[in-house]
Amino acid sequence: MDSFAFIIHPISPKRDVSRKFPFLGRVLNEKQINFFSTFFPPVYISEIEGIRSEATGKTIKGWFIACPLTPARMLELPEKWVYRKIIQTGRMAEKLGAQVLGLGAFTSVIGDAGATIANALDIPVTTGDSYTVSIALQAVKDAAQEMNIPLENATAAVVGANGAIGQVCAEMLAESVQELILIGRRPDALDALKGRLQTAFPGCRIRTSTEMNDIRHAQLILTVTSAIDQIIHPEHLQPGSVICDVARPRDVSTRVAEARDDVLVIDGGMVDIPGPVDFHFDFGFPPKKAYACMAETIALTLDGRFEDYTIGKQIRPQQVVEITKIADKHGLRLSGFRSFEKPVSEAQIAHVRARATSTRQAKR
Ligand SMILES: NC(=O)c1ccc[n+]([C@@H]2O[C@H](COP(=O)([O-])OP(=O)(O)OC[C@H]3O[C@@H](n4cnc5c(N)ncnc54)[C@H](OP(=O)(O)O)[C@@H]3O)[C@@H](O)[C@H]2O)c1
Repeated sequence: MDSFAFIIHPISPKRDVSRKFPFLGRVLNEKQINFFSTFFPPVYISEIEGIRSEATGKTIKGWFIACPLTPARMLELPEKWVYRKIIQTGRMAEKLGAQVLGLGAFTSVIGDAGATIANALDIPVTTGDSYTVSIALQAVKDAAQEMNIPLENATAAVVGANGAIGQVCAEMLAESVQELILIGRRPDALDALKGRLQTAFPGCRIRTSTEMNDIRHAQLILTVTSAIDQIIHPEHLQPGSVICDVARPRDVSTRVAEARDDVLVIDGGMVDIPGPVDFHFDFGFPPKKAYACMAETIALTLDGRFEDYTIGKQIRPQQVVEITKIADKHGLRLSGFRSFEKPVSEAQIAHVRARATSTRQAKR
């Protein structure tokens, strides 16, 4: 049976360590978990069974394995050290017999986005970023429709536009919207991206900014930074806007959920997986649903595509289109909206629309 492995790691240290080691999660504080994660070996998490292609009936299996490092640790430690730990985790995938390895969350962000890891391992590797882009864009477009925001008249913003996922999201959004704001920390890189996109999409007005306040000009926001702290707060958002948070750890402050019932915040990247799937591990999603980056590894395995797929910081739109076709064929789909890990109902969306209208009227 064809098989894959997927590397996860603790993102919210106490909560995520508790999922596998309830005792350690209870007795250690966040600082201690960050510290000990440096010395902990890779951890076998679970076997994944029941994934079945809708097109071919092919069934595959997989494994979750964990790199113990937290995002904070991955950013603090020397890059070589972090690579070594991820490669060590990848060796566990090889021993299990996996034919392809997916890199979850920060294991795909660090350094050259999988290239060093792919070179070191004997099995192919993918970051899952191509399908993450596909699902994020689908979610933004669906949410825009729900909120009655016509794309062709919309101003969109991409936060983290200089990043691997951000760049290609910006490129693919520029085709559809009237105005695009590229938000990032490095003005030179933003200008270079703007130049490239403005030439390719003369019908879209493109601006750059290093100020988070500028997202208040956008009705549609896709945020995908590698910040370890929450960087988008209630005062940054205009009433009626949609914000899709693809980043893990998340970019949007939990205060937005409390203070702004006139904006629609959706979690980027949840996908329905075909077949009687059992992950044998609770990573915080409802049954039979996975992150888009996991879903890319699953789609490649269902298709028998055992090759390095998305590697490096330059993702091409063609890769996004191709992986979407592969995933569609086997029955992987964008799942319903979730916000701060809870499902979003039609009634909630109607409430957001109504609150946005009344806030706008009150402002006038
Ligand atoms: N939901 C999913 O299924 C899924 C899948 C894959 C990845 N992800 C998440 O997606 C995020 C981005 O991944 P990536 O591979 O695109 O990373 P990346 O290539 O490293 O890009 C991240 C970008 O974030 C920017 N950034 C970092 N800290 C910031 C801050 N404090 N304020 C503003 N911008 C900041 C960086 O700016 P500079 O370039 O100026 O340094 C960089 O351009 C990560 O959180 C990752 O975990 C999610």
